[in-house]
Amino acid sequence: MNVQDVLSPAGPAAGRFLELWWITLAICTLVFVAVLAALGYALWRGRRGGASDRLAPVAVASALALSTAGLLFLIVASAVTDRALARMDGEDNPLTIEVIGHRWWWELRYQDAQPSRLFTTANELHIPVGRPVALKLTADDVIHSFWVPNLGGKKDLIPGREAWVTLKADKPGVYRGQCAEFCGAQHAKMAFQVFAHPPEEYEAWAEQQRKPAPEPVDAAQKRGRELFESGTCAMCHGIQGTKANGRRAPDLTHLAGRATLAAGTVPNTRGHLAGWILDPHSVKPGVNMPAHALSPEDLHSLLAYLGTLK
Ligand code: CUA
Repeated sequence: MNVQDVLSPAGPAAGRFLELWWITLAICTLVFVAVLAALGYALWRGRRGGASDRLAPVAVASALALSTAGLLFLIVASAVTDRALARMDGEDNPLTIEVIGHRWWWELRYQDAQPSRLFTTANELHIPVGRPVALKLTADDVIHSFWVPNLGGKKDLIPGREAWVTLKADKPGVYRGQCAEFCGAQHAKMAFQVFAHPPEEYEAWAEQQRKPAPEPVDAAQKRGRELFESGTCAMCHGIQGTKANGRRAPDLTHLAGRATLAAGTVPNTRGHLAGWILDPHSVKPGVNMPAHALSPEDLHSLLAYLGTLK
């Protein structure tokens, strides 16, 4: 299941936001109802005509006092939420991931004290349940915003600056995230997915990501890799363990293990991948990926090779 819902928090940060939201909604509803009641009363009195204004100063004073109290309460509630979120940022042993916003995709660099354990992926954030995940947010081009409604967040990624947000998932699941700051024509198609795994499952996934791409075995796969390395693909995309080491576009070392293509735009199937390679602008107008006029044999070889990148 692939949810995006602020009303069903799957982590402590989203839980705090939801509490604050209910408090704010309750207070605003009370104010709204009180204003309508006062309006109704005033109209009713007006129709009777000529009523005295003896009570007016009292009514104004109590409305003022109640509004002030309500606003103060909201300030305190949001400060308490803010403190709770700040405490989360300081939790021990976080998994640190660098998130870089690009038009229009997400680069994810998993940090580690040992350089050999670093790896880079795109658009699909895998995290272990129960462990805080510290995200270092930066942007490559324009301002983007990181938001996973079920887990929390909504923090801007600003070029030349560094922002941090800590998330934690309480239960396994797949949560949809979305760029929340207008960043150009394909802003709406700048989505991502967060896969929250039980810790052992996460470790197995991370171990797999650290491996270079498997060697092609048959003729078509070998031809596919050759095409990838010698054609325009390798100018932007990297595949670990091959000659392709472009850094401008998503790393494709484990492309076949991803659920979607083009930042959550289409499912990662052979057909969609073919369409994306031949004519990416029909899927996502304005992307940097150019169209490729490949012969049917070359396309078949390329797809055969990309399909091995588990
Ligand atoms: Cu990136 Cu909107």
